[in-house]
Amino acid sequence: MKRMIRHYLAAVLAAAALLSAGLAAGAAPGVSECMDCHGDKTIEKTLPGGRTVSLYVDLQAYRSSVHGKGSCVTCHADATAPHEKLAKVSCGRCHGDADKSYAGSSHGKLRAKGVTDVPACYDCHGKHDIRKPKDPAARTFRLNIVATCLRCHMDRALEQKYDLPGQQVMIAYQQSVHGMASKKSGLTGSAVCVDCHGNHAILPGDEPRSATHRQKIPTMCGKCHPGILEKYEMSVHGKGMRAGIAESPVCTDCHGEHTISKVSDPNSPVFARNIPKTCSGCHENEAISTRYALPKKRFSSYMDSFHGIAVEYGMTKAANCSSCHGVHDILPSSDPASPVNKANLPKTCGKCHPNAGPNFAKGDVHVEVSPKKAMGVFAVRLFYTIFISALVVLFVLHVGLELYGRWNRRKENGPDGKEGQS
Ligand code: HEC
Ligand code: HEC
Ligand code: HEC
Ligand code: HEC
Ligand code: HEC
Ligand code: HEC
Ligand code: HEC
Ligand code: HEC
Ligand code: HEC
Ligand code: HEC
Ligand code: HEC
Repeated sequence: MKRMIRHYLAAVLAAAALLSAGLAAGAAPGVSECMDCHGDKTIEKTLPGGRTVSLYVDLQAYRSSVHGKGSCVTCHADATAPHEKLAKVSCGRCHGDADKSYAGSSHGKLRAKGVTDVPACYDCHGKHDIRKPKDPAARTFRLNIVATCLRCHMDRALEQKYDLPGQQVMIAYQQSVHGMASKKSGLTGSAVCVDCHGNHAILPGDEPRSATHRQKIPTMCGKCHPGILEKYEMSVHGKGMRAGIAESPVCTDCHGEHTISKVSDPNSPVFARNIPKTCSGCHENEAISTRYALPKKRFSSYMDSFHGIAVEYGMTKAANCSSCHGVHDILPSSDPASPVNKANLPKTCGKCHPNAGPNFAKGDVHVEVSPKKAMGVFAVRLFYTIFISALVVLFVLHVGLELYGRWNRRKENGPDGKEGQS
């Protein structure tokens, strides 16, 4: 019996101890206790360098933030009122996924080494005013993201210190079709930084895990341009890319990255007049043509054609590479589905030459000026080259002889001008 009472007493004592511990926990300071000091607009702290930072917390902003229902110790876990120096807040305690991908990113890796040039969670989200990314007032709301990133990525000093793309690149993005659509038109569906780079796992493009790695670019752009992605995947370029041919073009090779503009913009690399140059980066390149056994000199042979000359002189109606080969669905001419397959040429040429008969497409459209490929053109060109060169040489010889003759005559007559005068 005594034993039982003892046990009972022990149990009551334990319960009391737990209760008091519980009370102590319940006594964790409430928001108002912290705000007694931190609600004072003048509260500040002096840093070792002498600079002061405000320790004021805006209660209203805090209350309307996503964490505003909880107390301050949700994040400042070691805070009491008053308190000593506090530990840094760990957001990762509750947001494990975001924390993990951030830790592996270019930003996170440097931050872990104590570098404060790169953003911590609160540089992008805020501290006491964090809102859901869906909330138009959030720093991470789609239309506010560019400003959040450009706070650092427009900074000349950081640009040089970390060899980042220049200020002009970021200005170019803001003036690109994507930048204008989100900034000027407020279109939430346009591409902002994190659509291409990701938000937490940002890495340089040459890392295979990066969202901007070459191999991932078509699907990345294809999130918003799915119809084009579908065509591209079936094309010789898309298949080449899948097969690991590094020189096969992805979207950004033809369109640019931060500078992407509307097709109708005369500065766009895919504006009609600029297309031959854009394709020629690879198809006039000897090394690439040789490596993939492609017909060579596609640019110069095009520039020597009627179309090339017409386009060069600003006639955008004349055929450029894409008028004949297609755009995102380019195939080898041996493929029956290719618009430049022999069987399809009358139709392809017929788009612009409505009277073209079946024989119209017989002539070479890529005029390769070599004896093997186009003897006629080669001979005519050779003739003119020799003829004009000879003409120039004769002319120079004639003028030279004439001058020499005059000079000689002057010498023979002696300095007659002068003598005659005295
Ligand atoms: C009695 C006034 C007072 C109260 C109450 C108070 N603080 Fe402070 N707090 C200060 C002062 C003063 C500083 C600056 C200390 C310094 O100079 O390092 C400070 C600094 C801080 C800092 C900056 C971290 C650091 O170490 O520099 C945080 C975070 C903070 N307080 C959170 C809180 C929280 C959360 C509460 C409520 C649990 C709270 N404080 C209650 C006076 C107070
Ligand atoms: C969502 C997490 C979170 C909550 C909740 C929170 N804080 Fe903070 N607070 C931070 C972060 C992050 C910092 C930056 C310093 C750090 O990492 O420790 C900070 C810094 C501070 C500072 C230092 C000054 C500054 O702005 O850097 C004070 C003071 C402070 N908090 C007070 C408070 C008070 C008072 C509350 C409650 C009303 C509160 N905090 C609630 C995350 C939080
Ligand atoms: C103690 C746990 C805890 C800590 C620490 C914490 N959070 Fe949260 N956070 C939450 C909870 C719970 C929610 C969900 C609130 C809701 O849905 O109403 C949330 C929501 C969010 C959201 C919105 C998420 C969404 O899906 O829209 C963001 C962003 C966020 N937190 C960022 C942070 C950042 C940045 C820090 C550090 C400064 C931080 N949190 C610290 C618990 C925490
Ligand atoms: C470089 C800026 C940046 C940094 C640094 C950053 N975030 Fe984010 N975070 C964003 C953006 C932007 C979004 C909005 C989602 C989107 O549109 O991609 C977001 C979304 C979130 C969300 C909502 C759910 C989700 O994953 O989409 C949470 C939670 C979150 N971040 C927590 C954190 C935490 C915790 C850290 C630090 C470990 C952190 N973030 C660091 C930019 C950042
Ligand atoms: C607080 C300043 C800051 C903010 C905010 C910031 N960055 Fe950065 N970012 C940097 C610095 C500094 C580097 C260079 C880090 C390095 O070289 O490893 C960097 C690197 C990068 C890189 C290149 C990665 C590499 O290693 O080459 C990309 C891409 C990037 N940031 C995108 C973004 C995006 C997108 C946002 C907004 C969601 C953003 N940054 C917000 C400072 C910032
Ligand atoms: C339409 C997609 C797209 C958008 C939008 C975009 N970028 Fe990029 N960005 C890229 C691509 C692709 C690269 C090149 C990656 C490579 O090949 O290395 C790049 C490169 C970079 C780099 C150099 C690091 C690297 O990987 O070479 C930084 C820094 C950067 N971007 C920051 C930003 C910032 C900040 C924004 C928003 C203002 C932004 N970008 C918007 C696609 C985009
Ligand atoms: C970044 C380099 C690059 C650019 C830019 C490029 N190509 Fe290609 N192209 C290639 C490579 C590499 C192949 C071979 C791929 C393969 O065989 O898998 C190829 C294949 C082709 C073929 C099929 C050749 C054959 O016989 O198999 C045609 C036709 C073609 N490209 C036309 C174009 C046109 C038109 C443009 C411009 C609108 C263009 N290319 C832009 C690299 C490029
Ligand atoms: C070989 C070069 C090349 C590649 C690779 C390429 N494009 Fe294009 N793209 C062009 C050309 C040339 C035009 C202009 C066509 C015209 O004049 O109508 C164009 C037009 C466009 C247009 C606007 C016109 C339309 O058809 O809606 C979009 C959007 C576009 N491309 C997106 C993409 C995406 C996304 C990818 C990657 C999946 C991609 N492009 C890959 C050359 C290319
Ligand atoms: C988040 C969605 C999104 C992503 C990702 C995206 N775009 Fe776009 N893009 C758009 C929207 C929306 C427009 C239309 C803007 C307008 O009409 O003002 C557009 C317009 C364009 C145009 C101009 C079309 C025209 O009318 O001439 C081109 C070219 C283009 N994008 C190419 C790309 C390429 C290449 C990538 C990848 C590097 C890419 N986009 C990634 C949403 C996106
Ligand atoms: C007037 C139509 C037309 C134009 C313009 C044109 N091509 Fe072609 N291209 C053809 C035809 C037809 C063939 C197949 C027969 C041949 O080689 O002449 C061909 C063949 C090719 C081939 C060889 C691969 C294959 O499919 O047989 C490549 C690569 C190529 N063209 C690239 C280009 C590039 C790059 C441009 C622009 C600089 C361009 N073409 C302009 C009609 C055209
Ligand atoms: C996008 C429209 C377009 C397409 C497609 C096109 N052409 Fe043309 N072509 C023109 C224009 C415009 C001229 C006039 C240029 C000039 O006056 O020098 C021209 C001129 C010519 C000429 C010079 C003689 C003449 O009739 O003026 C020949 C030959 C020719 N094209 C052949 C072809 C062949 C073969 C094809 C198909 C493989 C083709 N073209 C496809 C627009 C096109």
